[in-house]
Amino acid sequence: TIEEITLRTILDSRGNETVEADIYTSRGFGRAAAPGGASTGTYEAKVRPPREAIENAREHLIPSLIGEDACDQITFDALLREIDGTPDFRSIGANVAVALSLACAKAAASSLDLELFRYLGGAFASETPLPLGNIIGGGAHAPNATSIQEFLVVATGASGATEAVFVNAAVHKTVKKILQAQGKLTGKGDEGAWAPAITDAEAFEVLGEAIGIVSDETNLEIRMGIDMAASELWDGEHYRYRDAVRNRDDQITYVADLVDRYNLVYVEDPFFEEDFEAFADLTASVQDRCLVCGDDLFVTNVERIIQGIETGAANCVLIKPNQIGTLTDTFEAIRLADENGLETVMSHRSGETTDATIAHLGTAFGCIFLKTGVVGGERIAKLNELIRIEELI
Ligand code: PGA
Ligand code: ZN
Repeated sequence: TIEEITLRTILDSRGNETVEADIYTSRGFGRAAAPGGASTGTYEAKVRPPREAIENAREHLIPSLIGEDACDQITFDALLREIDGTPDFRSIGANVAVALSLACAKAAASSLDLELFRYLGGAFASETPLPLGNIIGGGAHAPNATSIQEFLVVATGASGATEAVFVNAAVHKTVKKILQAQGKLTGKGDEGAWAPAITDAEAFEVLGEAIGIVSDETNLEIRMGIDMAASELWDGEHYRYRDAVRNRDDQITYVADLVDRYNLVYVEDPFFEEDFEAFADLTASVQDRCLVCGDDLFVTNVERIIQGIETGAANCVLIKPNQIGTLTDTFEAIRLADENGLETVMSHRSGETTDATIAHLGTAFGCIFLKTGVVGGERIAKLNELIRIEELI
C-alpha cells in the first residue's frame, strides 16, 4: 500500500529542472526521475514545467494515489490517466506521470525484495540488452557539429553487455585520438558523444577507422548505427544538411546507400515523423541486414506503432517511457512490437539524470539494445547498472 509520495524538482544533465518522485509503501521504497529530450517528437506526451507541475500534482493528484496498491501497476497507471483526463498527459504533465509510474514499480519491487528487472521480467528474464552507444554527434545535441544527430556503435560480437560496455568505451577513446591527431577534436554534445565540426562523411570515416582498430584489438565484431533525427533536418520540402540538400527521394537513396557502404546495423528516424511511406520503402530494401527504427515516428505510442505495422514502416521500435508517460503504456508498446516481429530498443533521452531504471526495463522486456550513451555520469549510471544486472543473471 502506498503510504507517502514526495515530488521534488532536481537537476538534469543539461542543467534543466526535472521531476523526481519518491514513493513509500508499508514495506518498500521507489525513486524515479523524468528525463527530457531536445529533439522531441511532435506526438510525444506533453511535459509541464516541473515546479508548476509538482504544485498541481500535490493538490490534485497525490491525495488520490495514497492508499493504492503499488503492486497493481495497471490500476496505478490507469488512475494517472483518469485523473489527467487528456490523451497526452498535458494536464498533470508527462514528466510527473513517468516519474510516478516508474517509482511505483520500483516501490513494488522493493516491497517484494526483488530487483526491478526480476519483478517486471519474471523468472525468464535471462538476457541483458547490448549497449548501443553514441560516439560522434551533432544535430540538436551540439551546435556546429555533424548534421546527423548520432553516430552509434554496438559490439554485436561481444559475449554480453559487460564486454560490450567496455568495447564502446574503447571506440569512444579511439575516436578521440583520431580526431586529436587530425586537429579536429572539440568538446562533447549533450549525450557525451564527440561533437567535432566535421561533415557526416568525415564522421563515418573517423568512426569506421576507430571501429577497425578496436575490433582488431578485441577480435570482436563491432557495427555502426545512426540516429538521423530527420524531423530536425526536414524543412517541409527538403532535408537540409551542413553540406547538402536532399529531397525526399534523394534521402531514401542516400540512406539505403549508407546502410550498404558502412554496413549499418541500425538506422533511426531516417525520415521526418510523418513519412511512413519513405520508412516503408527503406525498410523493404534493407530489412534483411539492418534495423530501421522509429523514434519520433512512433513516440512509444501504440496507435502510431499500429500504423507502422500496417504500412511496413520499420522493423524496430525505439522505447522511451517518458514519450508516453506510464510503464503500462511502455509495456503495451513493447508487447505490440514483439507480437508483430519488430525489435525494440530501450532508450535514454539527451537530458538525463542518474536514474538507471531503463537498464532494468530493457532487460525485463527483452529489448535487443539499450541506447544510453557511452560516457558521463548520467550515462554510466545506466551502463554500470547493466553490468550489475548481467552479474545477477
Ligand atoms: P532526444 O534525442 O532525447 O533529444 O529526443 C534522443 C533521440 O533522438 O534518440
Ligand atoms: Zn532518436
